[in-house]
Amino acid sequence: MKVLLYIFGLLVFSFGTHGDSIYQFPDDFLFGTAAAAYQNEGAWNVSGKGPSIWDTFTHLHSEFVVDHSNGDVACDAYHKFKEDVQILKELGVKFYRFSIAWTRIFPTGLPHNPNADGIAFYNALLDELQKNSIIPMVTIFHWDVPQPLQNLGGFMNPKMIDYYIEYARVAFENFGDRVRYWITFNEPKQFCQEGHGEAYYAPALNMSGVADYLCGHNLLRSHAAAYHLYNDIYRPLFGGEIGITLNGLWFEPSNPQEEEAAERMRQFYLGWWAHPIFTAEGDYPPVMKEYIAKRSAQQGFRWSRLPEFTAEEVEYIKGSADFLGFNHYSTFLAANAENDDLTISFANDHQVKTFLDPSWPKGASSWLSVVPWGFRKFLKWLRDSYDNPYIVVTENGYSDLGQIHDAERVSYYGQYLEALLQAIYEDNVSVIAYAAWTLMDNFEWFDGYKSRFGLYYVDFSSPNRPRIAKDSARFYKYVIGNNTVVPYKKVN
Ligand code: NOJ
Repeated sequence: MKVLLYIFGLLVFSFGTHGDSIYQFPDDFLFGTAAAAYQNEGAWNVSGKGPSIWDTFTHLHSEFVVDHSNGDVACDAYHKFKEDVQILKELGVKFYRFSIAWTRIFPTGLPHNPNADGIAFYNALLDELQKNSIIPMVTIFHWDVPQPLQNLGGFMNPKMIDYYIEYARVAFENFGDRVRYWITFNEPKQFCQEGHGEAYYAPALNMSGVADYLCGHNLLRSHAAAYHLYNDIYRPLFGGEIGITLNGLWFEPSNPQEEEAAERMRQFYLGWWAHPIFTAEGDYPPVMKEYIAKRSAQQGFRWSRLPEFTAEEVEYIKGSADFLGFNHYSTFLAANAENDDLTISFANDHQVKTFLDPSWPKGASSWLSVVPWGFRKFLKWLRDSYDNPYIVVTENGYSDLGQIHDAERVSYYGQYLEALLQAIYEDNVSVIAYAAWTLMDNFEWFDGYKSRFGLYYVDFSSPNRPRIAKDSARFYKYVIGNNTVVPYKKVN
């Protein structure tokens, strides 16, 4: 069967010279795809579901999204999940990463009387996956804060830790028997810094250098509390694993003198979250503490705008993950931008400027260019910085405008998967799983339905939301079927 698939792959994709790597993915390597509730479920107000900040925000501020769309219906995955599981099966994936919509479980976020219909929905999805031998990887929080909890300050309110933990408890309790991998939070940098510090994501507070750090502080405490709850009570019962998903852009020094600045940017971007959890000393990265404290003093604050963990909290957060979930898409160049601007902001705290090399091929998202060597360098950096953790690549993918013959996406996946193989075999990075973002085109936040990441095309003008396999779906299927990068044409 493998040979047949391979020959078919050769016929379909071999008009170029790439792929056919000398390396095979390890036999137990896990391939999957990833998605998130607000982006694909739709059914925003059915069966007792309450509004999240994304429901409210897109309804009140459609101008925030390029095509004025929202996730009310999205891919209608809420109703079409059985069909979607068949697609996953057809692709041959070993696991499926999806997120739970908090307000399906607790419609107001307040932790009382869980909504039976919401629990039934995820039970049905988990059962369907199990029936088809697909391992569930479940993200507890992928940005959709219950609106009433946001009205209380959301993650800037320390009480949120209790609310989040009760939600996580209900999830562990009801779904833990089938879930092998749990992810406490998806991309805290994007959620806290770009959604609280800036206005790229809901709740769009735009209070850079203040709201982002408060959000991050309580998010890290919530993460650790969920880890310990699982570790103490549910791991002994169910034996799953629990981690967190961090997004990393690779920051390459724009010239060799800029390595210090590039490293500072890596620490502010990913180290903010990884250092407290994955290093032996724990706590925020020293460079972050130093720069924010210094700038805060210059601004006339009597304390640093970056909150401090107590010694017990440092211990409690340290080591609170079985694996590092890593979302990676792209690379930026970085250079020092030390300045005297005392405006309060994240950028004036880190004092690094980042920019793209114009020669890099670009995707449809403004921030995405094709730089596979950045992926490899980043994986090696994670190994070296965090004592060789288990890494689950929880997202990687390419955006275009939705064409079915998506040669650029095939080329992107081919190159990034080759880089991943080199990281595994030549740099000894412990990557155990990889998820393509995403199974099907879905609501891409402020890019609406314009930039598309799917292996499957979705026709959003049709009420039935038909899914159609793109060339990249076939390519990924051959990769999974052969455990290696099958030939493809490099076009970007
Ligand atoms: C990361 C996020 O987790 C996901 O929600 C988003 O759609 C992809 N990046 C692509 O931007």
